[in-house]
Amino acid sequence: MSDLLETAAGLVGPGTGILAADESIATMSRRLERAGVDATPASRRDYRALLLTTPGLGRWISGIILCDETLGQSLADGTPFAVAARERGIQPGIKVDTGVSQLPFTDGVSVTEGLDGLRGRLERYRAQGATFAKWRAVFNAPICATPGGASTKDGNRRGIRANAHGLARYAALCQEAGLVPIVEPEVIMDGDHHIAVCERATAAVLAQVFAELDVMGVDPRAIVLKPNMVVPGSFSETPAAPAEVARRTLQTLRAHVPPAVPGIAFLSGGQRNEPACANLRAINELAAEEAAPWHLTFSFGRALVDDALVTWQGDPGATAVAQAALAANCARAAAAHRYTPEPAPAVRP
Ligand code: 13P
Repeated sequence: MSDLLETAAGLVGPGTGILAADESIATMSRRLERAGVDATPASRRDYRALLLTTPGLGRWISGIILCDETLGQSLADGTPFAVAARERGIQPGIKVDTGVSQLPFTDGVSVTEGLDGLRGRLERYRAQGATFAKWRAVFNAPICATPGGASTKDGNRRGIRANAHGLARYAALCQEAGLVPIVEPEVIMDGDHHIAVCERATAAVLAQVFAELDVMGVDPRAIVLKPNMVVPGSFSETPAAPAEVARRTLQTLRAHVPPAVPGIAFLSGGQRNEPACANLRAINELAAEEAAPWHLTFSFGRALVDDALVTWQGDPGATAVAQAALAANCARAAAAHRYTPEPAPAVRP
């Protein structure tokens, strides 16, 4: 277990965060094509290689999440991605869920799949050099915010139960295999809802997730939680300033996340880099005032990489400028992770 504790602590250490570069083949291909790049295994590799070989990346990035395809690929010089990451002081991680399907007897509520055969896959990923893993479950804010709790038989509430169970079984398998699980319950920003709706939904989801993690025997000291920030829907007419996002986010986390969890690495959820970093900075400032028990950092995808992709557009001549855009976004996010919690008191034998 001590290796897992060290890995988890390393992922959320001061002034660094996690780069999510683990889009599925389908999602990555869509994003490449939107940027005018033919989507092939080679272009997906070249794009991820551009990200990873950004000069100085290890100053801001503690871990990079890859997908199955990239973990099996190598840079142009033949160095496997996992080795290249380690050479830069960055831990290689792997997304292990296999996407979502629809829960029966619900109106389009999704459940994340991927438990079948997971034990064997985790062994392979560890042999390929991964030290941590990621599983993302997706929740709709207005649906999950409906009063009644996950215990009701309302079809929409089944999504919370099923996804929390999946996250917990995944996390237990990871710890058994010697990998730190990133537990990612994401209340998505889609919609025009008020921030209070996201807050209620996030609370309901986190309550169920930590109850299931406990049932499955997952050690909270050896996970990283990757939640959404508490924010309004992307089409909400009532924006929220960073101070409000920070207050509602920390209040929700305090109510549901055990202090033993070493760190919380927020996803960006479609926020652009500057607002995501402003919110992260405000969360860290409030955490310092309130002496919150966790490191509070980032595990952004789009908020870090979008600018690099539109700058690159598959042109090798644009690589350096695209890498500079990624570096600037990573530096801004890392600077927002400023708060260091007091170390937990030593446990007496
Ligand atoms: P975004 O930061 O783009 O939301 O991506 C994070 C992630 O890992 C989604 O699973």
